[in-house]
Amino acid sequence: IPIHVSLQELAKEFKVAVPDRYVQEHREPTIIFNGSSPLPSIPVIDLKDFIKMLGKNDDNLKSLRSVCQEWGIFQLVNHGVDKLLVEKMKKETIQFFNMPVEEKLRYKLEGGEYEGYGQTILHTQDQKIDWADRFYMITNPIQKRKSHLLPEFPPSLRETMENYLQELQKLAINLLGLIGQAVDIEKQEMVDIFEDGIQSVRMNYYPRCPQPDLVIGLTPHSDATGITILLQVNDVDGLQVKKDGVWIPVNFLPDALVVNIGDILEIMSNGMYNSIEHRATVNTTKERISLAMFFNPKLDADVGPAKSLLTNTGDPPLYKTLVMEQYLKDFFSRKLNGKTFIEKMKINSE
Ligand code: SIN
Ligand code: FE2
Repeated sequence: IPIHVSLQELAKEFKVAVPDRYVQEHREPTIIFNGSSPLPSIPVIDLKDFIKMLGKNDDNLKSLRSVCQEWGIFQLVNHGVDKLLVEKMKKETIQFFNMPVEEKLRYKLEGGEYEGYGQTILHTQDQKIDWADRFYMITNPIQKRKSHLLPEFPPSLRETMENYLQELQKLAINLLGLIGQAVDIEKQEMVDIFEDGIQSVRMNYYPRCPQPDLVIGLTPHSDATGITILLQVNDVDGLQVKKDGVWIPVNFLPDALVVNIGDILEIMSNGMYNSIEHRATVNTTKERISLAMFFNPKLDADVGPAKSLLTNTGDPPLYKTLVMEQYLKDFFSRKLNGKTFIEKMKINSE
């Protein structure tokens, strides 16, 4: 179903009202006040302190475990990713969206594909469209790269993306090891499943919007990933998470990366961890840009409750096991819809 590829261009025409196609009738409100108590904010983990404490006692692993159980998302500070590289990645992501539309159309999403540049992928005729443009692509393993995407980027963006990706790979494998360890999954099992895994990137562009409360920048969903590492590119907030049934905003700390648990870790942890439901909102005054990197098991890995966890705890598996390749196919054939996808993975769900 063809729709105009760039909302960034189209939105210039919508100065006072948004077209029906973008109006969400069932959008849930954001909680601003919660009686007299302040809103909770997502936990912060200082990776440098965390590593320093490792081996001394297991307090930090216990707190990591409760963060991943109760929240499934945290801000990571002192993450060790080179600050200059992060700044460069931000700058060039902004430059990407600022390229003339003809340039961006070289990466245009074609019908039936999910990699490239464009608006929401439509699965049905009457589906509402998110208030955003995206660029999504699989980056690893390298032989999965589409030749008209990353390989064709302006040289500087390509190089920056490669460097940023490599830094985040190191960070992700460390985090996955720790997050697994905190719930009795053996490190080797994490490595076996995630090493040389499927990795992908999505750059999100949310234009200014004359009626931000009528639209959604990104439909509520949980990620079909192991973990996602999110960079807020232009320091404009908009991410919200569903906590205890209400939507609360995330205020990004300067220099933080936001890490969230995806469905695959909820499954691997046999339901101990929470794959957090989240969405993006937009505003009237400022465009918003973000960049997410997704870290997943390798294609032939089994996605199911971790074997070492089941052995160590003696618990019965609560989720089915599916090979990663099939899992991804199923995921991309559906439209985003809260946490409905992971529900299907529960044993006795049908
Ligand atoms: C995402 O869910 O991948 C992106 C959310 C955001 O733009 O902050
Ligand atoms: Fe997400």
